[in-house]
Amino acid sequence: MSFNSFGRVFRFTTWGESHGPALGAVVDGCPPGLSLSESDIQPFLDRRRPGQSRFTTQRQEPDQVRILSGVFEGRTTGTPIALHIDNVDQRSKDYSEVAKAYRPGHADYAYDQKYGFRDYRGGGRSSARETAARVAAGAVARLVIPEVTITAWVEAIGGDAIDYAKFDAAEIGNNPFFCPDPEAAQRWEGLVDAARKDGSSLGAVVACEATGVPAGWGAPLYAKLDSELAAACMSINAVKGFEIGDGFAAAGLRGEENADAMRPGADGGVDFLANHAGGIAGGIATGQPVRMRVAFKPTSSILIPVETVTREGEASEIRTKGRHDPCVGIRGVPVVEAMVALVLADQKLLHRAQVG
Ligand SMILES: Cc1cc2nc3c(=O)[nH]c(=O)nc-3n(C[C@H](O)[C@H](O)[C@H](O)COP(=O)(O)O)c2cc1C
Repeated sequence: MSFNSFGRVFRFTTWGESHGPALGAVVDGCPPGLSLSESDIQPFLDRRRPGQSRFTTQRQEPDQVRILSGVFEGRTTGTPIALHIDNVDQRSKDYSEVAKAYRPGHADYAYDQKYGFRDYRGGGRSSARETAARVAAGAVARLVIPEVTITAWVEAIGGDAIDYAKFDAAEIGNNPFFCPDPEAAQRWEGLVDAARKDGSSLGAVVACEATGVPAGWGAPLYAKLDSELAAACMSINAVKGFEIGDGFAAAGLRGEENADAMRPGADGGVDFLANHAGGIAGGIATGQPVRMRVAFKPTSSILIPVETVTREGEASEIRTKGRHDPCVGIRGVPVVEAMVALVLADQKLLHRAQVG
């Protein structure tokens, strides 16, 4: 009932707050015998880590992961895997104002309404610090699905989109934006700098593709692969939209345009002539790339004053000082990849459980 866990067979629970001593995840249901050490997890945390460029928050967190359980002699034992990450750069004084007045766009008001009491330091449990734990759990999930390659990138910032004619996957790691189009990455430097200097922020669209997902993974009706992916991605902080395949654009197509026509392929298989559906039909993977897009809102914490109310109900204004991402979608990229990995690992084990 408290909803800190996700997944059915491959299931993880995260714990911890922004300004607590540490946070982490417990991964349960991981198959035994997989080779696992901190070095399998750390590179993914390093991609999400704050303070790596002027385009992300300056909070300095090394995000060093420790495996506390579930691994013996370098291999998973099939028992719960506890992952631990210290919080080292909390500055609670940055948040004294937040104790008094609600930050619009944050969970402050909603948490107070629900629990009547909240850890206001950095947003407490609602802070995206928690996504470090998801990324750590996602790295374990990837070991369960070696047949799948998951790649996410930023497709647009502040409404300025990449040109897919210039898409180069090798470029994604070469700039601070996870951007596959070097010209767009160049433009975004100016765009994000200008927003930051204005004391404002920008939204972003993150695209993600999973290749190698075998036809048949997924489920009908109430656990459709697309709905599982949507739930996973919509659970990420600041996500306000999710599309699978052509998504909302499919509603503007005619039937013959939207159909993913099929021809007989090699070895009795099938060749699809298009992938408007994003690799899923009836909730089940078709074997095509699974494609999705995730919309991140602009960072709520901005220096421009916004009208608000205090806990006592008085009119007030708030400027959110402290250290913040000028565009949260950028660091959302490794988080989206992690959530997709977590869903696919679960779906693989569910598929195996039902059909062998
Ligand atoms: C990786 C990541 C980093 C984030 N960093 C910030 C931040 O520095 N400042 C901020 O206002 N929001 C940040 N957010 C978003 C907030 O956590 C989120 O908007 C807030 O908790 C309210 O939840 P909601 O937007 O999902 O409704 C971040 C989100 C992600 C995914």
